[in-house]
Amino acid sequence: MNIYPKLIMDALATVRYPGTGKNIVEAEMVEDDLRISGLHVSFSLIFDKPTNPFIKSIVKAAEAAIHAYVAKEVEVEINIKTIQAPRPEVGKLLPGVKNIIAVSSGKGGVGKSTVAANLAVALAKMGFKVGLLDADIFGPSVPKMFQMEDARPYAENINGRDMIIPVEKYGIKVLSIGFFVDPDQATLWRGGMASNALKQLIGDAEWGDLDYFVLDTPPGTSDIHLTLVQTLPITGAVIVSTPQQVALADARKGINMYMNDKVNVPILGLVENMAWFTPAELPENKYYIFGKEGVKHLAEEMNVPLLGQIPVVQSICENGDKGTPEALDGETPVGKSFMKLAAAVVRQTDKRNQEQAPTHIVEVSK
Ligand SMILES: Nc1ncnc2c1ncn2[C@@H]1O[C@H](COP(=O)(O)OP(=O)(O)O)[C@@H](O)[C@H]1O
Ligand SMILES: [Mg+2]
Repeated sequence: MNIYPKLIMDALATVRYPGTGKNIVEAEMVEDDLRISGLHVSFSLIFDKPTNPFIKSIVKAAEAAIHAYVAKEVEVEINIKTIQAPRPEVGKLLPGVKNIIAVSSGKGGVGKSTVAANLAVALAKMGFKVGLLDADIFGPSVPKMFQMEDARPYAENINGRDMIIPVEKYGIKVLSIGFFVDPDQATLWRGGMASNALKQLIGDAEWGDLDYFVLDTPPGTSDIHLTLVQTLPITGAVIVSTPQQVALADARKGINMYMNDKVNVPILGLVENMAWFTPAELPENKYYIFGKEGVKHLAEEMNVPLLGQIPVVQSICENGDKGTPEALDGETPVGKSFMKLAAAVVRQTDKRNQEQAPTHIVEVSK
């Protein structure tokens, strides 16, 4: 005999859900995962909660209906699913996270991801619990920088919610949209989809207890930044720039975005990346190819700390491509400069926490 989906659905439509007058198909309790293989039929029934008192009787009635209306030889396998517990409201997300650090820049290509990745590695080496979220939805680079392009995080049901488990690498919990979608795909998304994806990576992931949650943000001052400040109370921003004039102008815009009275995220300080070039064979020489101390001057002018200066070094680029951030070896000259940078970030974060009230999440205006 031939069993086809409509036969099963018609049979299930004879099963009423008590008290509503609706049958279980109308009530959308039958998930569309119906599988038929010979005489074996399997599907899922969705209930509001695991303690629903009618689960047993409805499963029995569904089986009986298939036996009565389709054929009594049918082997019925019914999976019970319950609707997810809701995501906690904004403000109650990430209760175990102490400090949230947004690594930002005005301009792309100035080394924001490089700084974020190495900062995360350096903080972990100092013994802190660290998470790194690649929030650059349209240009994720963390998968490559951590040699995790094949990572496919799995989900685990925790307290009634399917939670994404961040992937651990170099002692850091890591998530990136790059683990889930092809970046070319994401560029076709409308803004709302990108924001939702980002909220999932934050609110539907099991970040657990963290001392530092580092966010690698997209360049500029986009919708993604707005989503971030509307979703998370960012402890402080670290602004990365090169000493070049165009980069500085954009860095200033980034700083102003965070300091805006509606946003009010403190600036922990600036990082001067590509501060000078030192050839490997002449380690004492410094060539200021993008201009000298532009970021240092901007920091002085805006009265924010200069957290560190990172030279242009071929190995930074190579290690970024290889997936082994330079800071893993804290003894190389560049590794040392990242360790110093991390120490400065810790110092400024502690200072900020002592002197200023916790950051408020930006209210969504409707
Ligand atoms: N200090 C540096 N020395 C050498 N190469 C660097 C340095 N900082 C960044 N890079 C390289 O520059 C490119 C852009 O850096 P990236 O961190 O991806 O920038 P962003 O995230 O701001 O777009 C990468 O290839 C990276 O390896
Ligand atoms: Mg980047």
